Amino acid sequence: MTLVVEGRLQDSVLENEWHPVYISSDLVEKPVGVIVMGERVSIYRSKKGVHAFRDLCIHRGAMLSEGYVVDDCLVCPYHGWKYDNAGKCVSIPAQSKDMKIPERAKAEVYHCQEKYGIIWVCLGEPTIELPSLEEFEDLTRKPLVCGPYDVKAAGTRVVENFTDFAHLMYVHGGLLGHPDYAELPDFSITKEKDRIFTSEVPIYQPVAHSGSEAREGTTYVYVKEVFRPMSARLSKRDADTGQTLWILLTVLPLSEKECKVFMVVSRNYGFEVSDEDFIKFQDTVFQQDAWIIETQKPELLPLDLQAELNHKVDILSVAYRRWLKELGVTIGTV
Ligand code: FES
Ligand code: CO
Repeated sequence: MTLVVEGRLQDSVLENEWHPVYISSDLVEKPVGVIVMGERVSIYRSKKGVHAFRDLCIHRGAMLSEGYVVDDCLVCPYHGWKYDNAGKCVSIPAQSKDMKIPERAKAEVYHCQEKYGIIWVCLGEPTIELPSLEEFEDLTRKPLVCGPYDVKAAGTRVVENFTDFAHLMYVHGGLLGHPDYAELPDFSITKEKDRIFTSEVPIYQPVAHSGSEAREGTTYVYVKEVFRPMSARLSKRDADTGQTLWILLTVLPLSEKECKVFMVVSRNYGFEVSDEDFIKFQDTVFQQDAWIIETQKPELLPLDLQAELNHKVDILSVAYRRWLKELGVTIGTV
């Protein structure tokens, strides 16, 4: 069970991770409040880019995310103290202009950046930069951000579900597989320092989809990969045509048992399908996952490998659990 101090979940690994917090294009002139590991964080946009502060004014504890942006500074809604992008208070309206602003008048600043159409925040010091996943940066592949989806479950359960093959024919039966074709071929995994990935896994789908449009079935070749404690990626290639879909799934832990899930989807086909239709299809698929994940017990992912029954097709999930244990991730694990 994770320790909580003043509302923040203590986890020395996830504290130093980049967490997805908001869809870039949705952050315009108003600041917004988000939750990262139980901590309230205010994000806002200035001419220089995006910024994240602890959502707490040092004066009397008001929420800075309820304030507004003036001259690229974040203004507290309570008494109008104004903080620059480095978190330094540059104006206290109630005091005369020639009075010095106290040294301690500062907002707590967190690392913040935009990538893949998402705003990312790190509460501590980033262990590692966000990886370069070119398929989500290449605009010819039309990357689309889906979600965020609110899930009442541990983020670890969501990532693990994303690494799972054997549910495709059941949870997504008719959309991503069929129970008549549930047998999985042998596959292997490779573990590197910062990622674990599968060999190619061919799965026959009697009906194929681009967006919500159905067409004749085909064999899809999947590769799944976990590359951060809360991020994973898959590619799904049509064996005949080479048409490929890539999905990045990244999870923001709000608390031990609640999270927000962001997905970036890109593709090299199906550009005639509207973005809306494409996103709607991903929404449907993810709602099917969320439904099952929210029923799982225990809610926290058991890292003791004897706690649940691992099967040979679960090798990626088992490796993920081992990795979480090695790293010492506590949020969402037991
Ligand atoms: Fe923020 Fe007073 S509480 S200015
Ligand atoms: Co699924």
